[in-house]
Amino acid sequence: MSVNIVLGCQWGDEGKGKIVDSLSSDIQAVARFQGGANAGHTIYRKGEKIVLHQIPSGILQKAAYCFLGHGMVIDPVGLQEELEALVKYDLAPEHRLAISPYATIITPFHKELDRLREEAAGTASIGTTRKGIGPAYADLINREALKAWELEDMDLVSEFLTRQLLLTQKLYQNEKTFNEYTAEIEAFFTAVETIRFYIQDFTGELKAIIERGGNILIEGAQGLLLDLDYGTYPYVTSSHTSSGGIFTGLPINFTMADNVYGVFKAYVTRVGNGPFPTEQFNAIGKHLQDTGFEFGATTGRPRRCGWYDAVLARYGVYINGVNHIVITKLDVLNDLPEIKVAVAYELDGKRFDNVFGIMHRLGELTPVYETLPGWQQSISGISTFEDLPQNTQRYLNFLEEQSACRITHISTGVNREDMICR
Ligand code: IMP
Repeated sequence: MSVNIVLGCQWGDEGKGKIVDSLSSDIQAVARFQGGANAGHTIYRKGEKIVLHQIPSGILQKAAYCFLGHGMVIDPVGLQEELEALVKYDLAPEHRLAISPYATIITPFHKELDRLREEAAGTASIGTTRKGIGPAYADLINREALKAWELEDMDLVSEFLTRQLLLTQKLYQNEKTFNEYTAEIEAFFTAVETIRFYIQDFTGELKAIIERGGNILIEGAQGLLLDLDYGTYPYVTSSHTSSGGIFTGLPINFTMADNVYGVFKAYVTRVGNGPFPTEQFNAIGKHLQDTGFEFGATTGRPRRCGWYDAVLARYGVYINGVNHIVITKLDVLNDLPEIKVAVAYELDGKRFDNVFGIMHRLGELTPVYETLPGWQQSISGISTFEDLPQNTQRYLNFLEEQSACRITHISTGVNREDMICR
């Protein structure tokens, strides 16, 4: 039996889908524990591109149950669209998808509140995905959330929506009336009808799979540096993206965790605002963006790009309890004559080898780089570590040493088979 956990350890978009895919062959259940439609996982099916936001990518395994944990914020409208796309590709989840009755529901007004708040914040905006994530989690913390089990009572849902509209009017002087939201509200009610079928507690099933010695795959969304507490607050998402979030967002406990796969791009990207010490505002940044096709799967926004940050990687390994590092998009570095890695920071004339106590000052510090030679050749089709060019091996060995954890998987291209396992 093993409970395998896949977590992004940067600012999201690390390419988690690739490792999820390679770990999926013999799983009995796949689950998500946090976030919602702010995530975007691109998967390919018979040459067609499917972008999943709320349903875990492990859905591709037809034998696996899919569980959406109570730590998630569920957007019924988005979920209905994903379900329709899956039906089209003959991947209908039917009796193998369950949404926790205790998950929080996102309504059209959560999205509206997200937009209004971001617009009101002006230059201090977070750069959210505007999917209503923050306002829905705020309701949860305020103990006012609309829970999935409450979707049975449409009168209650209507009252909830009316209260929310009033809130937009009071907080943001929103002048629109209920009637002006008719299309969104109708779509919401229609979607609620569809997803209600899937709302059922799955604690018993999950427990039984674990007790039978089955394999479970837990998919994190976003990345550690967007964690509400461990990330670059306030430029974070509103959930716990770290391993800690698993044990409050899904009905399992920490003694059950076996393998924690920490996913890192071979460089770093970020969407939205907030500090990013190794960001490159130059030709290197542009090269990484173009070569890595760094545009958000959910919003299409260009991603900010920079060098691998080993200081933050050590933090990710420690906080998440990572015991396997997965390096993705290594091939994006193929053409570079030299590659830098941040190994420490300087702040107020002092050197820091970790971020403990200085996360809130990330925007002020200067990275200390080590420069390594590039390999300037294609690495596609290489299936073993030993066959990689010497300088590629040197780069990976350096990352491994600096990140304080073994690199067990290396993704060298977009295709499924472009993955080296050690
Ligand atoms: P929110 O999650 O929509 O509230 O956005 C908060 C911050 O997290 C913003 O900087 C978003 O760009 C970022 N974010 C949210 N989801 C993702 C993701 O899946 N990948 C990368 N960044 C994300």
